[in-house]
Order: sequence, then C-alpha cells, then structure tokens
Amino acid sequence: MAILDKHKILETNATLLLIFSFLVVTIGGLVQITPLFYLENTIEKVEGMRPYTPLEMAGREIYIREGCYTCHSQMIRPMRDEVERYGHYSLAAESMYDHPFQWGSKRTGPDLARVGGRYSDQWHVDHLRDPQSVVPESVMPKYGFLEHRKIDGKYIGDIMAANAVVGTPYTEEMLANAQADFRAQADPDSDFDGLLERYGDKVSVRNFDGQPDLTEADALVAYLQMLGTLVDFSTFTPDASR
Ligand code: HEC
Repeated sequence: MAILDKHKILETNATLLLIFSFLVVTIGGLVQITPLFYLENTIEKVEGMRPYTPLEMAGREIYIREGCYTCHSQMIRPMRDEVERYGHYSLAAESMYDHPFQWGSKRTGPDLARVGGRYSDQWHVDHLRDPQSVVPESVMPKYGFLEHRKIDGKYIGDIMAANAVVGTPYTEEMLANAQADFRAQADPDSDFDGLLERYGDKVSVRNFDGQPDLTEADALVAYLQMLGTLVDFSTFTPDASR
C-alpha cells in the first residue's frame, strides 16, 4: 500500500484524524516550548546598564503620566534607515529595567530611545515649553506647566520599591537614600558622592531646568538626557553564540 493510500485512512476517519492532529500539535508544541525552560536568560547582558536614578525614575513617571508614549516610541529597529537616523538599534537589555516598557507603537514624533545628549538641557526646556519655538512645524503639545510644578521626591522611594518587587535590582541602600539622591542629582552644589557611588560615575548631576526650584521639568529632562546613553557602543559586540 502506497503511503498516500495509508493517509487516506486518516482523511476518511474523523476520530483518527483528530487523534493524530493532537499528537502532531503536542510534539510541535514541546519542541518549541521545552527549550525555553532551560534558558537561563533571554536578555543578553551588556555593560553599563544600571537601574534608573531616583530623579530619572521620577522623569519616567512623568513621561508615562503625560502620555509621551502615545506619540514617541523607544525602540530603534535593526534596519538601516532607523540605525542611520537614530543610532545603534535598541538592545533588549536597554529596557530591562522598564516596568512597564516604553517601546510604543506610534511615531507621531521621532523615536526617543537615544535622544540623550543629542540636545542641550536648555533646548529641552525651550522645546517642552513651546515646541514650535524651536521646531516651527512641530505638532507636539506644550508642556510648560512642568517647570512650575515643584517636586520633592517624597514618594520616589515607594515607586522604586515597587520596581524592586518586579525585579529591578535596587539595593536597601538605594531605597533608603532615594529622596536624598533625588535632590542631589539636580543640585551640583550638593554632596552627591553617595549618588555616584550607588549609580556610577556617569550619572549627570546638574540643574536640568536652569531655575532654582526642583521641578517636574528637572526630572523629565534628566530622564530624557539619560535615554540611550547607558551602554557604551564603542565597546559593545553582539554575542554570536546565542
Ligand atoms: C501629539 C504628539 C506628541 C506628544 C504627545 C509628545 N510629542 Fe514629543 N514630539 C512630537 C513631534 C511631532 C516631534 C517632532 C517635532 C519637534 O521636535 O517638536 C516631537 C519631538 C520631540 C523631541 C525631540 C526629538 C528629536 O530627536 O528631535 C523630544 C525630546 C520630545 N518630543 C519629547 C516629548 C516628551 C517628553 C513628551 C511628553 C511630555 C512628548 N514629546 C509628547 C509629538 C509629540
């Protein structure tokens, strides 16, 4: 009996066909799913990634609250036009401390994954206050009110503790010093040694919005200026073994 004739037995018997379909799907499923249980990590480790500082974390909260993600993505795809415009494609590790992630699905404005360091703080302040003043054709709304909303970081420790619960490696020390570190980052005259010790020397300590009060604009600009700058791509080589 030719193999095709044997197949006819299956095709003409619904119960048998169901049983064999079930077998095929089960084997296929196992082949796909089982290896995932033996993977230690699906995110390639890269140097430079660190949890966000309290001030950057506050900026991120404002970014989410204001719905910046409805117009901006934070994921550069590995395609030539994207890489030439925005820089190195985004790595999984670069959003490993984002809860929730900010990849986005809409680009009314440009991708922001590597906007850090591209403009001056003053440019960001002017742009947030009145986007059309620096980019006349912009359709971005004005966010000038952020400069007038003072913040003191009272609850930033709680937000960081919540992130620690879902896996961000904030230490007890980072949580205990959250509010102090929050203030220190926006005040270059303060004692910010502890902040650098906890988060690394590359943390920028500045008066981000250029005015005396610590405001939401400080936090948001601190966050924007950090985006995409943590990994040093001059030393990064993709791990080809995976
Ligand atoms: C209605 C859509 C919209 C929203 C909401 C929006 N933006 Fe934009 N954004 C744009 C557009 C369009 C541009 C490009 C023109 C420009 O530079 O203003 C832009 C540009 C930018 C740029 C400059 C990027 C670059 O590479 O030149 C930054 C930074 C930025 N937005 C930050 C923000 C932040 C932070 C928020 C939330 C507080 C926000 N945007 C909300 C539409 C939006």
